[in-house]
Amino acid sequence: SAVFNPIITIDGPSGAGKGTVAYRLAQALGLNLLDSGALYRIVGLLAHEAGLLDGQVADLEEKLGALTEKLDLAFRVNDDTKTVEIVIDGQVLTKDIRNETVGGYASQVAVFPKVRAALLKVQQDMGKKGVVADGRDMGTVIFPNATAKIFLTASAKARADRRVAQLQMMGKPADYEAILAEIQARDERDQNRAAAPSKPAEDALVIDSSALNADEVYAKVVEFCAQKGVQF
Ligand code: DC
Repeated sequence: SAVFNPIITIDGPSGAGKGTVAYRLAQALGLNLLDSGALYRIVGLLAHEAGLLDGQVADLEEKLGALTEKLDLAFRVNDDTKTVEIVIDGQVLTKDIRNETVGGYASQVAVFPKVRAALLKVQQDMGKKGVVADGRDMGTVIFPNATAKIFLTASAKARADRRVAQLQMMGKPADYEAILAEIQARDERDQNRAAAPSKPAEDALVIDSSALNADEVYAKVVEFCAQKGVQF
């Protein structure tokens, strides 16, 4: 039977293509998009700027938790540019959070339960009218009753290859070995942490995108969502 306001979760490691699928699904279904990684990236960047990630800091989890709780974070669609803007304390974020350095900061702060707890409500609130949510724990922790759960993965090598190709297309320098090492370090931390480790929910469809293109991945996701009652 048809499901209204579906919640579709797409979890998995960085570079597996979650963002692309999530964006396309949200467009097709007229649903909001929750890019949960962006929330951790913002906290990571602010923690770095506050000097909290530099080394031995006393009561680090308390400080990071307090920093996160104080933040007023929201997503807003800009109808002119058709992009999703992040609004922090009333100001649109203009800093670049989509680079591997900030990804590393995000992964560092994401291990702390107090940080995760402080981001819980803003994420769950976004699910009330249906949502496509992308992250690590969308299907396991944030939306355990989601309509359809997908875990999209790919080998570290395939993800490093894609990242190098992306950087080259943007005319930026790309060091394959360094990128592969960063991907592996981030996977290791995200998968082995105690709090909400990155792993497929028991009822998730696992897709390995190593040898699939974006259209092939999207087709599998659409088929699975349709089986779960999502109407396209
Ligand atoms: O998806 P991303 O690369 O933007 O995420 C950046 C980091 O944030 C990721 O390495 C781990 C953390 N993260 C998380 O712990 N839980 C989420 N739901 C999303 C991201």
